[in-house]
Amino acid sequence: MQQESNKKIFLTALILALFFSFVVSLAAVLLKPIQQKNEELERNKNVLLAAGKNINNLDEEFKKIKIFYFDLKSKRVEIADDVSKYFKNFKKISENPQTSIKVEEGLEGFKSIPAKIPFYAFYENGNLDCIVLPIYGNGLWSTMYGFIAIEKDGNTIKGLTFYDQKETPGLGGEVDNPKWKSLWKSKKIFDKNGNLKIEVIKGNPDKNSENWQYQIDGLSGATMTTNGVNSFVRFWLSDKGFGYLLKYLNEHKELPIEKN
Ligand SMILES: Cc1cc2nc3c(=O)[nH]c(=O)nc-3n(C[C@H](O)[C@H](O)[C@H](O)COP(=O)(O)O)c2cc1C
Repeated sequence: MQQESNKKIFLTALILALFFSFVVSLAAVLLKPIQQKNEELERNKNVLLAAGKNINNLDEEFKKIKIFYFDLKSKRVEIADDVSKYFKNFKKISENPQTSIKVEEGLEGFKSIPAKIPFYAFYENGNLDCIVLPIYGNGLWSTMYGFIAIEKDGNTIKGLTFYDQKETPGLGGEVDNPKWKSLWKSKKIFDKNGNLKIEVIKGNPDKNSENWQYQIDGLSGATMTTNGVNSFVRFWLSDKGFGYLLKYLNEHKELPIEKN
């Protein structure tokens, strides 16, 4: 009798466990597209934020955007159709030898990066207004993903945002504080000889120094995170990242688009 009831309890528990694991898996599968859509919205919102555009007009503003790939090998620009696939498969793309390139140094914690990286170009009345480049790299606790917007001169920063980072709120997490991000606006990336000069420093940049235009005051109490940001922003703006694109823009006032 006792054995019979134990069997029943076991069977009921098993059925319940199976049922709920099925429900949870089904929910995960069904919610995946919604989750991906929300991630895309959050990314797109941050593209606009970096460029200082109105985020309440997401669809309208996105009509003024063209999306391209920058080919890190050929240094050319190609029109991109659907970049959601790039972000969805980002890890695979950045690790597969067929779709990535090796990085020897400069991007702490990464051995390879995608060979073709999407970026966004804003146009006003048909003229290029600014470009928005994706950037990523390691902070203290997490890989931080964001965007940096650069004026059409290829040298002046318009804005910086982070749409995914897990640094400590109130410490490293302050990288997403509008007040800190505003320090980047109008800073210059290169000097007149094309040397990469932008840097995050510890302490207030000296207004009387020639270097003031290239320097951003790091977050106090979060030196490790800001060191990470300094290092990966410099990587992406260097010739290992988008440097060539920026210098081309500075010189030619247009993108190096592959003409067929
Ligand atoms: C619980 C905890 C969380 C921390 N989180 C961060 C962080 O997210 N980013 C960071 O740079 N430092 C963080 N720190 C502080 C670092 O350990 C280190 O003290 C700090 O980066 C030094 O910055 P400072 O030289 O500006 O004081 C954290 C410390 C503790 C105890």
